[in-house]
Amino acid sequence: MFKKLLSILAVLWGAAFLIAGVGLGVFMHHHIPHPFYFLLPFVALGALGLVPASLVLLLLRAQTWKTRLSIVAAYCAVFALAVGGPAAWRNYYETPRNGGPYLVWADDPKTTMTVCWTAEHAVPGRVEYAPEGAAEWKSAEGPATNYPKVKIAGLQPGGKYRYRVPVLDGQEHPFQTAPAAPEDFSFAVYGDNRHAGGFSWHSSVTREMVREDAREHFRFILNSGDIVESPGEGHGWQWATFLSDITPLAASRPYEVSLGNHESGGKPEPFAEYFDYGHPEHWRAFDYAGLHFIMLSTEDDLKPGSPQFAWMEKALDDKPADTRFTVVTLHKPLLTHDPRGNYNDPKRRGELEPVFAAKGVDIVFAGHVHSYEHHHLPAFEHVITGGGGVLLWAKPTPGPETVKTETVWHFCEVDVKGKTMSVRALRTDGSVIDAFEVQSKR
Ligand SMILES: [Fe+2]
Repeated sequence: MFKKLLSILAVLWGAAFLIAGVGLGVFMHHHIPHPFYFLLPFVALGALGLVPASLVLLLLRAQTWKTRLSIVAAYCAVFALAVGGPAAWRNYYETPRNGGPYLVWADDPKTTMTVCWTAEHAVPGRVEYAPEGAAEWKSAEGPATNYPKVKIAGLQPGGKYRYRVPVLDGQEHPFQTAPAAPEDFSFAVYGDNRHAGGFSWHSSVTREMVREDAREHFRFILNSGDIVESPGEGHGWQWATFLSDITPLAASRPYEVSLGNHESGGKPEPFAEYFDYGHPEHWRAFDYAGLHFIMLSTEDDLKPGSPQFAWMEKALDDKPADTRFTVVTLHKPLLTHDPRGNYNDPKRRGELEPVFAAKGVDIVFAGHVHSYEHHHLPAFEHVITGGGGVLLWAKPTPGPETVKTETVWHFCEVDVKGKTMSVRALRTDGSVIDAFEVQSKR
């Protein structure tokens, strides 16, 4: 009688969790139409129901204590493997492993390129490079470290080159310097590719970027931040995964990140170990083919009167005479219609929008919100491109400034032709979420 009652309870337990898993899965899939949003609650709640229920049923059917002990041992072994296997894999990446190479601009994009990689063994960094078509290799060197960053200087504007890192894998990669004068070109922007709860779809975004790059060559990639879940100890595997995802693109063009709140901090600061943008601050500006880029840090003081704000005002003015467009990237947006109210900071908008408007900013790319949002503001376009691979959960309701919003993994492609900038937000299957043009005001 007791065994029968236990069996019925076990079956009811398993069935209840399975039904709850299906219900929550259907609800979440309705919110975000991707199979993962059905499978995650279904599998998680299903396991919570079926694992104990099946264990109880098996133990009740077992005839001897030896059989019962074997069943418990088998369940414990599977549990240990399920938990310990991923933990061991993650722990392996706590010390740097060979990764990259990836490129950044630590100096003038017209005449320099900085090659970065991660090294299991800290030996002096050496890069060999040559102009496209030239047989003779030159070399540039850097100090011994697990995070080598070797600057190649004295390059020709608009020059095409190739390079290799002998201590890494010796594979050749092409790169090109910024042209001396404005010309047509394309680049890509996205953000929020980080892991959350162990999950990220970053590689599906970068795979589509690689496919799109074959059609419209991206000269560089901008990331509006949140590239890892947390900067420090225990997250080495996330940096390794991030580098593995970006290398197909970043090995042959600069990859520029606006610091996000998730990689902010840590001692020594991992962000500074992985990236060298030419100075210790997290903000910077560069010019490329008639476009003036300002990359800000919302993770440092950006209020009026702060060093960054003063620098920004000057940097927005300090642009070449042939500038066609001014582009700003920053992590936290000026506005959002994300239902979680704390993501919207009217104070930030109040402090930045008038300056951007007065100083001729054409477009702002932000992240932080895990969605695509395009707002048309009186003086410039404001885009949140926060679907670079992180779990999606925000579903913004369109507001008065909204042109388009969608909660989906994506990236933005920007094509600059003459005085027209065309922006397309693309899903991971290459379909278009949003497309718009910005005309130069100059
Ligand atoms: Fe964020």
